[in-house]
Amino acid sequence: MDTKHTFNNEAEDYEQTSRAVNIFFDESLQELVNAININTKKQKVRILDVCCGTGILTQLVAKQYPKAEFVGLDFAENMLAIAKTRMENYTFTAKCCDVLDTEQMLALGKFDLILSSFGIHNIHGCAEKQIAINNIFSALKPNGEYIVLDYIKGKDKKECKYFTNYFKNFLLRTYNKKQTKEWIKLLAEEDEPETIQNNFKLLKNANFKSTKLIWQKEYLAIIQAKK
Ligand SMILES: C[S@@+](CC[C@H](N)C(=O)[O-])C[C@H]1O[C@@H](n2cnc3c(N)ncnc32)[C@H](O)[C@@H]1O
Repeated sequence: MDTKHTFNNEAEDYEQTSRAVNIFFDESLQELVNAININTKKQKVRILDVCCGTGILTQLVAKQYPKAEFVGLDFAENMLAIAKTRMENYTFTAKCCDVLDTEQMLALGKFDLILSSFGIHNIHGCAEKQIAINNIFSALKPNGEYIVLDYIKGKDKKECKYFTNYFKNFLLRTYNKKQTKEWIKLLAEEDEPETIQNNFKLLKNANFKSTKLIWQKEYLAIIQAKK
């Protein structure tokens, strides 16, 4: 099953499952929100949430910046439908679009801030990820900022093994041994995280002028990049 179908099928259970498989789900999203530093008093700030899913991050940000204009982008309609409902009290547009589609990304206009949580690792292939990051760069206004939270791959065999064991032990709190094994197999097939180094490389290639690791906990990291 492809990524779009997977998320369309699991939209209703997405957040519950995320909390069962991702030990730092809520904590890391809050860390991303804390990393945002924008002045919404000056002008109408435009914020894009790439791979917004059910809009959990979009809503957390909207609570802090209620006057901003939000666009949530995702290619899974069922995830977006939940985001739409959750964002009904804010200025929010849901865009059903693939982040790899350069033309559609350009049609969104320019943003002061682009965010993404747990989305980019779903894109398979380094070349494809580069297209996504290039499109994000193009969608930013001059001096705009991109903040991304995602899974990261271990830098070597030792770290990869450590991450897998950490993940396995967390899953065992909710699932039995057989289910845990199946989860690890499934996520190894579906997910394609990059090392922190590769994430920096992709951002530099896209022309971001400064990049910074602002938070890391085990296999999760938040990176900030400025245009
Ligand atoms: C793991 S969910 C993350 C959702 C949300 N950002 C969060 O933190 O809960 C990944 C989302 O990325 C979307 N996605 C994956 N690849 C995409 C692509 N190429 N274009 C647009 N959306 C994509 C999926 O449909 C899914 O909703």
